[in-house]
Formats: sequence, C-alpha cells, structure tokens
Amino acid sequence: MKLSALDYLVCPTCHGAFLLKEGSVVEGGTPGSGTTSEVIEGKLDCANCAKHYAITRGVPRFVDEKSSSKTDIFTGSRFGQSWKSFPRMDERYRQQFLDWTFPVDANYFKDKVILEGGCGKGRHAKIVSESNAKEIFAVDIGDAVDVAFANVGRMPGVHIIQADICDLPFKQSFDFVFSLGVLHHLYDPYKGFLALSKLVKPDGALCVWVYGRENNKWLVTFVNPIRVALTSKLPEIILNPLSAVVAFVLYALVKLFVHPWSLLAKRFRWLPKFYYQDYLSYIARHDFLELHSIVYDHLVTPVAHYIPRGHFSAWFNKIGVADPIIRWHNKNSWTGFYSHKSSEMASMHARVAEPDLSVTQPRYQLEHKNP
Ligand SMILES: C[S@@+](CC[C@H](N)C(=O)[O-])C[C@H]1O[C@@H](n2cnc3c(N)ncnc32)[C@H](O)[C@@H]1O
Repeated sequence: MKLSALDYLVCPTCHGAFLLKEGSVVEGGTPGSGTTSEVIEGKLDCANCAKHYAITRGVPRFVDEKSSSKTDIFTGSRFGQSWKSFPRMDERYRQQFLDWTFPVDANYFKDKVILEGGCGKGRHAKIVSESNAKEIFAVDIGDAVDVAFANVGRMPGVHIIQADICDLPFKQSFDFVFSLGVLHHLYDPYKGFLALSKLVKPDGALCVWVYGRENNKWLVTFVNPIRVALTSKLPEIILNPLSAVVAFVLYALVKLFVHPWSLLAKRFRWLPKFYYQDYLSYIARHDFLELHSIVYDHLVTPVAHYIPRGHFSAWFNKIGVADPIIRWHNKNSWTGFYSHKSSEMASMHARVAEPDLSVTQPRYQLEHKNP
C-alpha cells in the first residue's frame, strides 16, 4: 500500500485512526523520483483500541477470523490458490471489464477514488489505474492479494488491501465502488452488497455483476452439488488437471462449433440460436489457458449463489435505489449500476439505449426484454 492510503484507512474494529509503526519498511517516494512511497513491511497501530494490523509483502492485512464468516474466509483461501495457479494478465481483460461495467466506460474513472470489492489477481485495478483514477483500493479476503500486489501493487494510485467486504477498514467513502463476480460467492451476498453500498459517496456510483439464476438451472442442479461436495475440497494437484480436461472439451466445443456457428449466424439470420450461445460465443475469444482458468474458478469455490433478477433488483430497492440500470449479461448473469447523480443516471440510461455502441457481442438486453 502507498503511504497515502493512511488518509483512507481506519481500524475496522473501533474506527480509530492508524499510526504507521516506526521502523516500517517504506520504499520509493524520494523527492523528484516520480514514485510514491510504498509500505512493504510494517504495522498499523490503532490509536484508539490499540489493535495492530500487519503489513506484509506490500499489503495491509485486516481479515479477522473472529468477525468474518468462516465460509467466506475458506472461499478466499480457495480463490487465493486459483489466482496463484493463474496469475497471468491478459489484454483481453480490458474489453471484458468494460462489458461487465457497461454503461460505465473507460473515461469514467479519471480522477476518481475507487473501491473494488474482491479484486482477485488485480486485473481490474490495472485497467482503472491506467484510466487515470486518482486512487483505487482493491480489496480481497484471501491470498489473491499477493498475486494482485505482484501484478499491479506498484502502479500509480493502486492500494491492495486484504480485508473482508463485510468488514471494511475505510473512514472515507468512494466516488465509485464496483464488485465483479464476487458477491455470489459470499455466504450472505446481500450483506456484502449492503456493506459496499454504504461506502458510496452521496454523489457517487456503484456497479456490481453477479451470476444469474435465469438460464443457469443446469449449474444449480448438477454443478453446484458436485462443487460443494467434491471439487471445492480437492487439492490443487488434482483440481488443476481435472479442470484442464473439462477446459479441453470446452475449448474444442467453442472453437470448432460455437465460433463458426456464430459467424454463420451473423450471415444467415435464419439459423437457430442454441442454448447458452451468447455466453459460449463470448468466451470463444479466449485461449486455452484462459478457459482453463475459468473452469478452475468455477470448480474451486465452495459457494456460488445464482441470483434471480427479482432478488437482485430488490437489493437496490432495499438501499433506496428505485431505478437501477439492470442488464442481462450474456443471458446468464446480471449487472446492476446506479449513480446518486440524476444527470449521470440519465446519460447512463441513454448509453444503454444506444444501439450502435461498440459492443463486442450482444451483451445486454434492456430491462423490459429481460425474463
Ligand atoms: C471469482 S473471483 C473474482 C475476482 C475479480 N473480481 C476478477 O473478476 O478478477 C472472486 C474473488 O472474490 C474474493 N472474495 C470472496 N469473498 C470475499 C469477501 N467476503 N471479501 C473480499 N473478497 C472476497 C475471492 O477471494 C476472489 O478472489
């Protein structure tokens, strides 16, 4: 974390201010060097309740086994393994990120102070930092933070923090809060959503993406029980080759059938659509390693909720947002966005309604077209 993070962090237990312990290892930040000070090893002492939180390998560690759900901590440890096995950064993540956050675009982040709940290997913090955000606090509950720090921790404005979304150590709220592919892995997804929404500034915005229940009955019925009973407990040495086998079948399917069919379907509009076509043709752009990582990611976690649209929009209503923008992404997941600024909401609604935006795939349906 950079020294400037001290302006934002607060003791998660009592909300007291932090003091950086003397003797902490701080790198960079010499005047004129163009770098900012990076705290690599040290301790944060709460001036109020005298609790201490370690900073190790560039990351302050706030996860407290007494206050977080055991399930969530276990989930974080499983994903930590996943990101250690698949740490690669890929240029294709940029478009994927913007597809998830649409109608937010890359210009949106400039000069903003941003929070990401569940950052994994840091692929989104990289894009946000490159888009000139002022600061991005990328939080994860598990060892993913070590991969994230190695990938992006020293980029301008990036702070990697190990903490639970439900027990965050911030005194300031944020211009923009986002969480992509995370809340459905929490023991209590709404609790995480609520915690994130409380950190949005009075004129800020929030964007979350979750697995949908609609169209995913096969995952709920067949994959979930196998994941819970078996694959989420398998050691890396077995899960890695097992997911490679599944990924190989998926790779052959999307490259040899789905992609050619989608190309033909663009030309011959009368060709029928098949089940899951939107999602499968979306992931057909990936190479084998990425598909391996996607399959591994699905099998490694002990918890995956598939959230019906009605529940998802009720989350927003419960926090007082009557009219969020909810999109059906690839016909198997939901993205929700709201901004407290009515002018911004109006322009985002207009973007969603715009048919000619440079979408890489048919990636959204307006609310009235949703099931
Ligand atoms: C599927 S990954 C998505 C990561 C990232 N958003 C991305 O798309 O690259 C889910 C991440 O959420 C993290 N996570 C799960 N529960 C969490 C919690 N309660 N607090 C913070 N992070 C959590 C996991 O450790 C994991 O890295």
